[in-house]
Amino acid sequence: MSGGGNPYQDDRGNHDASITKPGAGGSVDPTRRSGPVIEGSGGPFLIGDSMTGGYGKGPDILHDCTIAVDRGEIAVIVGPNGAGKSTAMKAVFGMLDVRSGAVRLDGADITQLTPQDRVKHGMGFVPQTNNIFTSMSVEENLEMGAFIREDDMQQTMEQVYTLFPILRDKRRQPAGELSGGQRQQVAVGRALMTQPKVLMLDEPTAGVSPIVMDELFDRIIEVARSGISILMVEQNARQALEIADKGYVLVQGANAHTGSGKELLANPEVRQSFLGG
Ligand SMILES: Nc1ncnc2c1ncn2[C@@H]1O[C@H](COP(=O)(O)OP(=O)(O)O)[C@@H](O)[C@H]1O
Ligand SMILES: [Mg+2]
Repeated sequence: MSGGGNPYQDDRGNHDASITKPGAGGSVDPTRRSGPVIEGSGGPFLIGDSMTGGYGKGPDILHDCTIAVDRGEIAVIVGPNGAGKSTAMKAVFGMLDVRSGAVRLDGADITQLTPQDRVKHGMGFVPQTNNIFTSMSVEENLEMGAFIREDDMQQTMEQVYTLFPILRDKRRQPAGELSGGQRQQVAVGRALMTQPKVLMLDEPTAGVSPIVMDELFDRIIEVARSGISILMVEQNARQALEIADKGYVLVQGANAHTGSGKELLANPEVRQSFLGG
């Protein structure tokens, strides 16, 4: 990996201008990052390390499962239905007790923290389902997202509206009246209201058309380029790996393949089993 100061000279597939349409939403300087990416300095920014655990007293769903994301990068988790992708995300966010393993954020062990406390430490999470308040307006959803903040959230709301202009137009409308893609924008926008350092997204493009999917991926790339790490689960495995710095294939609660997005896309076994050849 060449790295250096230029975020485009890395292994990420998302420096392809045809994917990112530079200038499309354009307030975020694409060269901006949260800081230099210094590899090997204290490990990844966020890691669920060797997690084993399940729901309540039920059987283990995760088996020594590790997922991680570096600063300002995009990590993507793919795998068959029921593989434990959502469970792994919930474990990293503290919604599930891990029986062994640890979650570390910026080097600090946060395994014992509640989800609320993880939000205070800079984590944002958009769950796979029920991720917006349908009867509330778009703007009320964003306000709810900022629940932990005591300072002025107006500037952050402006940033969300700049990222997703359609939400400004529809800010007075009940979120439940929006299209699938627009609802996902509300969900992502809501999570951004706490100004997270890392954003976890569970299937942000579920149920949307390919065009809307591309558009959402563009916005997610834009968020990553503003310095926020992205850890996301995706059904659209091929497209997601194309924009991923790092990819994880989970099978039956365990890591089956790990590599850069590019490596996984080129791996014959991954292609055959998970990408349709
Ligand atoms: N709330 C829950 N309680 C008990 N078991 C669950 C719960 N949610 C998911 N599971 C089980 O955990 C396994 C993994 O599910 P999940 O993490 O949702 O997979 P994926 O997101 O990869 O499709 C499945 O066997 C599922 O039935
Ligand atoms: Mg899931």
